[in-house]
Amino acid sequence: MSQQAEWWKQTTVYQIYPRSFYDSNGDGIGDIEGIIQKLDVLHALGVETLWCSPFYKSPQADFGYDIADYLSIAPEYGSMEDAERLIKEVHDRDMKIVFDMVLNHTSDQHGWFVESKSSRDNPKRDWYIWRDGKGKGLPPNNWKSMTGGSGWTYDEQTDQWYWATFLPFQPDLNYRNPEVKQQMFDIVRHWLSKGVDGFRLDIFNAIFKDTSFEDNPFSWRPLPSEDNPDGFFQSNVHTINHPDTFQFAQELRAVIDEFDTPKRFLVGEVFGPTEKICDYCGDGSDGLHLVFLFKSLHVPMTAKGFGELLDEYETHFQAPLMPTYVFGNHDRPRRDKTEEQARLQRLFQYTARGVPFLYYGEEIGMKHHSLPLKTALDPMAEKYKWIPQWMATFMVKQGILLNRDECRTPMQWDASPNAGFTTADAAPWLPLHPDHTKRHVAAQRTSDSLWTCIQRLLQLRKQHPSLHAGTLERLPSSHKDLLSYQRNHQDAPTIRVYLNFGKQTITLPTQAGTCLFSTHTPRAQELPLPTQLRPYEGVIIQCP
Ligand code: GLC
Ligand code: CA
Repeated sequence: MSQQAEWWKQTTVYQIYPRSFYDSNGDGIGDIEGIIQKLDVLHALGVETLWCSPFYKSPQADFGYDIADYLSIAPEYGSMEDAERLIKEVHDRDMKIVFDMVLNHTSDQHGWFVESKSSRDNPKRDWYIWRDGKGKGLPPNNWKSMTGGSGWTYDEQTDQWYWATFLPFQPDLNYRNPEVKQQMFDIVRHWLSKGVDGFRLDIFNAIFKDTSFEDNPFSWRPLPSEDNPDGFFQSNVHTINHPDTFQFAQELRAVIDEFDTPKRFLVGEVFGPTEKICDYCGDGSDGLHLVFLFKSLHVPMTAKGFGELLDEYETHFQAPLMPTYVFGNHDRPRRDKTEEQARLQRLFQYTARGVPFLYYGEEIGMKHHSLPLKTALDPMAEKYKWIPQWMATFMVKQGILLNRDECRTPMQWDASPNAGFTTADAAPWLPLHPDHTKRHVAAQRTSDSLWTCIQRLLQLRKQHPSLHAGTLERLPSSHKDLLSYQRNHQDAPTIRVYLNFGKQTITLPTQAGTCLFSTHTPRAQELPLPTQLRPYEGVIIQCP
């Protein structure tokens, strides 16, 4: 396969949360026209692929992850024409665009569910997962939802229970029904024919449930984690990462492969041990193209932490598979604390072998915004409003986010009121982070900043085949705070990367070459070949 055909292996992705990105009409809510108006800025930054969280028709109970019609656009975000124009405008700039596809469930307002719920013998009854209870007030089995508590909801009218992996207003579709599968494949085809370059697949690993409907076994784990979806004292063997879901990845890949020029791609949101979730990618040609690897969301800022992450991903995602590097998204706490750590982490993210995902705002180091749980708009927080605020804050430190409003605050564009996200007199749908008057794109584009640091990294990654298409080899380390590796490519010079995760200066091995980048030096300055790394400094060296 040619390099071009496998563009998705070399790309860099930027996630847009449309509601929070840019409001073009002053109603306080970001919209599609707003994304279009900011494409030039994203192009100037140098990101290659955009992933937009859902803007399909939806009651917005989970802000778009509850779809009421997969083939129309929510009016607050724009029209079908706007969506088509967005695809075109992205392509006109030589960029790609990936839509979010929620296959697992619909909104309870979707016409299919309204029908399904209407009576036991409705033709759409079997499009969702309905079961008899075990007795009065007792659900069909002990299965827990991903958000905690039983995933079953009782429907009085038809005296049966329906299954919802996430929240009760998001009923799961029944993929054992061939009509459902065909319908969803056709929806995927519909968007691909409109030119969409691929999909991010929401909670993909929940799609198939076991047909036995037997109880899930007990587990001692109170809470799920990125690499172990068991939790709430239950092992999710019958509900998460079911063997049939791996099989389904192959079927979906075949649908995607019907579209050839250009090739399209799939990235799955899955949770589980790295050695297991790599199986979603099959042999690299017959499964999902990529899966999100979420361990990075919690990696400690140490050479050991990042080194172990690298080793684990390199082991389980050997070529032709490709790892992903994710440090934030619309569900997780924002990680950036200090500027120097942010720069170091971006250097790692853009020079490791893998597809990097940047969440909007990470290019300016946007900070996590602690907000009261009691007034949260996020429906997940609704479920946990009884938790005291101090505990919610403590959980964020552990990487668990109950109020996802905190990482979805409006993008900070400039020094104008409301940080230029919306008009001065409008009320943004979520409060801005208090540092918006100082931290914004306008200020960072014109100075030595995180934004320009990322821009430079993206340029280098594009320029150097070793960085976007090379293999990765760990270099021996002389210091506990030093992480170093090199990227090799048969047709291009080898590139070495050195990262100092500590407070001490580290002496580098003597070598020849050219220094292409340092996290500590403004772009315009000449870069002498370093013999030492300053605290938290990272450099890129091109070998002769
Ligand atoms: C995924 C999404 C999240 C959403 C949930 C249910 O985890 O990332 O935002 O609430 O699925 O669709
Ligand atoms: Ca708007």
